Amino acid sequence: MTLGSDGPRTAAGAAVEAASPRSKRSLAMPKRGDQEACTALLLENIHPVAVQQLEAAGITVRTAPGAMDEDELAAALADVDLLGIRSKTQVTDKVLEQAPHLLAIGAFCIGTNQIDLEAAAVRGIAVFNAPFSNTRSVVELAIAEIIALTRRLTQKDSALHAGKWDKSAEGAHEVRGRRLGIVGYGNIGSQLSVIAESLGMSVSFFDVADKLALGNARRRGSLDDLLADCDVVSLHVDGRPGNAGIFGEREFARMKPGAIFVNLSRGFVADHEALREHILSGHLSGAAVDVFPQEPKRQGDDFSSALRGLPNVILTPHIGGSTEEAQEDIGHFVAGKLQDFVATGGTTLSVNLPSVGLEQAPGTHRLAHLHHNVPGVLARVNAVLADRGVNIEGQVLTTRGTLGYLLTDVGLDYTAEVIKELTELPETVSLRIID
Ligand SMILES: NC(=O)c1ccc[n+]([C@@H]2O[C@H](COP(=O)([O-])OP(=O)(O)OC[C@H]3O[C@@H](n4cnc5c(N)ncnc54)[C@H](O)[C@@H]3O)[C@@H](O)[C@H]2O)c1
Repeated sequence: MTLGSDGPRTAAGAAVEAASPRSKRSLAMPKRGDQEACTALLLENIHPVAVQQLEAAGITVRTAPGAMDEDELAAALADVDLLGIRSKTQVTDKVLEQAPHLLAIGAFCIGTNQIDLEAAAVRGIAVFNAPFSNTRSVVELAIAEIIALTRRLTQKDSALHAGKWDKSAEGAHEVRGRRLGIVGYGNIGSQLSVIAESLGMSVSFFDVADKLALGNARRRGSLDDLLADCDVVSLHVDGRPGNAGIFGEREFARMKPGAIFVNLSRGFVADHEALREHILSGHLSGAAVDVFPQEPKRQGDDFSSALRGLPNVILTPHIGGSTEEAQEDIGHFVAGKLQDFVATGGTTLSVNLPSVGLEQAPGTHRLAHLHHNVPGVLARVNAVLADRGVNIEGQVLTTRGTLGYLLTDVGLDYTAEVIKELTELPETVSLRIID
C-alpha cells in the first residue's frame, strides 16, 4: 500500500494534500477487513503462523530467512507498511528515515533494543513485541541447566560418550535446599522463582525496581548481598543500555566458591573473559550461557567465544525462548497486534506509543491522531470537529512522555477540510483515517 503518497482520502474519496512523511504523516488507512493494500515484510524465520494470520487478513506478506544490514533493510522497506523482525535486525533512525510507508514494527521476541524506539515514535510508527510468549520456555531451560550443572551432567555425558565410566558422586548435588539468586525479577525472573521453589530451592532476588516477592523468595538490598551466599546466580535483567557489563570480574569474584553462573538475558551484561578465568581457577563450578556479546547473524555461521571448551559450561545459541510453543505463540500474538493496529489504530501494549484501545461502533469513522503532548491539543481537535459539524461518537486519549495519541470515532462523513485542518495543527505528528 502506498500510504501517504496520494494524501488521505475522505469517505467520498477526495484526496487531501499530505504533509511530508518525515514531519507529519497523514495516512488513509485501509477499511476494516479490507487490508489487501498492506504489505508486510517478515525477516529472521518468523513462525509461519504469523504469515498465515496476516495473509488471512488480506495483507500481502514477503519473507526473508535472515537479518538484513542497514542498507539492505532500508532498500527493502521502500514500499512496506509492516515490518516483522526478531532480535538480529537493527532498525535504526537511518532505516526509518527511508521507510516512508512504515506503519508498525513487530518484534517477534521480547527485547526491543534492536529498534530505535524513539525514532519510530516520532514518525508515528508503532512498535509491538511479545512480552510474555516465551517466558515459560526460558524458565524451563534455566531450570534444566541449573539441575544439569549442579549434577555435572555435561561432564558425565561427555566422559561416557568418550568411553569412560565415571560413576563418582563427587561434585554432584541435588538442587533441593540450595540457594538460587535471581538478578532481575521481571516476567522471567519471577516465574523462575516460583518453579525453583517448587523444586525445594531457596530463592533470593535482586531487582532495581520494587517487586513483589513471590512465595518465600527473599528480596536482597544489593547485588553484592545476593552474590555472597547463593549457590546459583541467574541473570534475567532487561537490555537497557545501563546494564552493559554489570557482571564483570568484581561480581564473579564476589560469588560464593563453587557457585554456578547462568545468563539467559543479554550477552552484553557479562564479561566472558572474566567468567572464563573464574571457571578455569575452579572458583566457579559451572556456567550456562545462552546469550553472547556478538552473536552470528545466520544459521551455520562460525561462533567464537572465550567460553568454548570449558568444563561444566553449557553454551546454547540464544535458544532460551526458542521452543515451538513459544514461537507459535509469539507469531500469533505479534501478528495480532500488527493486524489490530492496521484495522483499528489500537496500540495496547505498544512499547513506544501511548497505549490506547477503543471499541469502534459500527458505521463510524475513526481518526487516529498522534500529536506532541502539550496542553490544549484535545480542545483544538474537538474545536475543528465541532466547527465542521462532525459529531464525536467515541473518543479516548492517552499520553506517554512527549506524545499523545487520540482515537476519535465520528458519526458523519468527515470532509477533506476537516482532515486538512487536523493535519495542519502544529502539534500533529500523524493522522490516520480508518473507515
Ligand atoms: N535467551 C533468550 O532466548 C531470551 C528469551 C526471552 C527473553 N530474554 C531476555 O531475558 C531478559 C528478561 O526478560 P523479562 O521478560 O523477564 O524482562 P522484564 O522486563 O520483565 O524483567 C527485567 C527485570 O530486570 C530488572 N532489572 C533491570 N536492570 C537490572 C539490574 N541492573 N539489576 C537488577 N535488576 C534489573 C527490571 O527492573 C525488571 O524487573 C531480557 O533481557 C530478555 O531480552 C532472553
